[in-house]
Amino acid sequence: MPEESDNLSPVAHEQRGLSADHRMFSPSAAQNSAPILEVMKCILPTTGVVLEIGCGTGEHAVCFAEAMPNVIWQPSDTDYDSRASTASWIKFIGLKNVLAPLDINVCSTLWGVEENAPIDAIVSINMVHIAPWAASLGLFAGAGRLLSDGGILVLYGPFMRDGLHNALSNADFDASLKARNSSWGVRDIADLERIGIASGLSRREVIEMPSNNAIVVFSKDSS
Ligand SMILES: C[S@@+](CC[C@H](N)C(=O)[O-])C[C@H]1O[C@@H](n2cnc3c(N)ncnc32)[C@H](O)[C@@H]1O
Repeated sequence: MPEESDNLSPVAHEQRGLSADHRMFSPSAAQNSAPILEVMKCILPTTGVVLEIGCGTGEHAVCFAEAMPNVIWQPSDTDYDSRASTASWIKFIGLKNVLAPLDINVCSTLWGVEENAPIDAIVSINMVHIAPWAASLGLFAGAGRLLSDGGILVLYGPFMRDGLHNALSNADFDASLKARNSSWGVRDIADLERIGIASGLSRREVIEMPSNNAIVVFSKDSS
């Protein structure tokens, strides 16, 4: 997936280091924000809290929150610099409906947002393939614990389908991820479906996106 491989190392914003502004810029986020937003506007609830896992620079958080003013966007990331960047973007844009980024590691048993549960939507963009499989397991376990009945888990990225890549560029990207870290790799929707079932989540839809990416939506089954 060369089109978005730069996503691995967001470029520091030009002002970063020159001031107290920690905003980072990811070329891939700039490129994919608009098409992802169009889908988010159709599938996310129009009110309530959306929890974002692995928010990275925070550019998606501010873009989506600005376009969906009745939603409260809760970004999170394990990475300190990503949280600092996200906090700076929130301040820079001046949005009131984005909460301060949280330090959530999906591999943890508790995410620190349990008191806000049930949550109606969890979003994770370009995370599951650039993290060990344990992160996918943790993400689905957490979604199963925290989502309301009918609540949705929304994933964006490249995905395999029944053992096959949907593009040569994604096969190359998968190989480059695995060379970088053997526990990383493009995930297969069928494998995600299996762990979804174990966590009480069913695959609802797959929406094809530009550059051979997809949005995969899971919904929490009624208990
Ligand atoms: C490739 S970046 C994607 C960032 C952003 N969503 C985007 O698309 O630009 C993956 C992000 O997932 C975060 N991440 C990795 N492992 C994680 C985990 N176990 N729990 C939560 N976030 C994690 C990383 O810190 C990183 O910011």
